[in-house]
Amino acid sequence: MIYPIYVYGMPVLRKVAKEVPKDYENLPQLAEDMFKTMYRAEGVGLAAPQIGLSLRMFVIDIEILADDEHPEFKGAKRVFVNPEIIEMGDELKAQDEGCLSLPGISESVKRATMVRVKYFDENWNEHEEVFTGFFAKAVQHEYEHLDGKLFIDNISPVRRTMNRGRLQAMLKGKINCRYSVKTV
Ligand code: NI
Repeated sequence: MIYPIYVYGMPVLRKVAKEVPKDYENLPQLAEDMFKTMYRAEGVGLAAPQIGLSLRMFVIDIEILADDEHPEFKGAKRVFVNPEIIEMGDELKAQDEGCLSLPGISESVKRATMVRVKYFDENWNEHEEVFTGFFAKAVQHEYEHLDGKLFIDNISPVRRTMNRGRLQAMLKGKINCRYSVKTV
């Protein structure tokens, strides 16, 4: 099924999410539905709180960015359950990002260019993996959702002021986007 995406102002986006319990029913189905929801909205990452589930889980698929210049994105599709970032590189890079829960907003955010992550997949296989470049950025963005943070928390006060009108409109449920959303 395709879920509506919870937009800025919905309290679940500000909650610290709980670990996914080992006996969670039909986790592979949830992962598949999260991918479906994400594809429909043309996103490259989606965290469970964005569909109203306060759980430590997110999906990323950036395979669409794979080309001759970026062959490293081939197969760049993962399900992260109860992830833990265990190492972060010192090098930072600023690059634009957006979020399906903040439609219409795109801002530059500095992120580490390398992260090492321990996580489970949807079948409870444990993994430890290093991600770099845009994949590392996506992991950090989605990981923040699990702690009730949004990428606009990382931008300068000036840039936040520039987006105030858009954010206020979201709080009033005035949103124009191509996918179905849940607003306050
Ligand atoms: Ni997001």
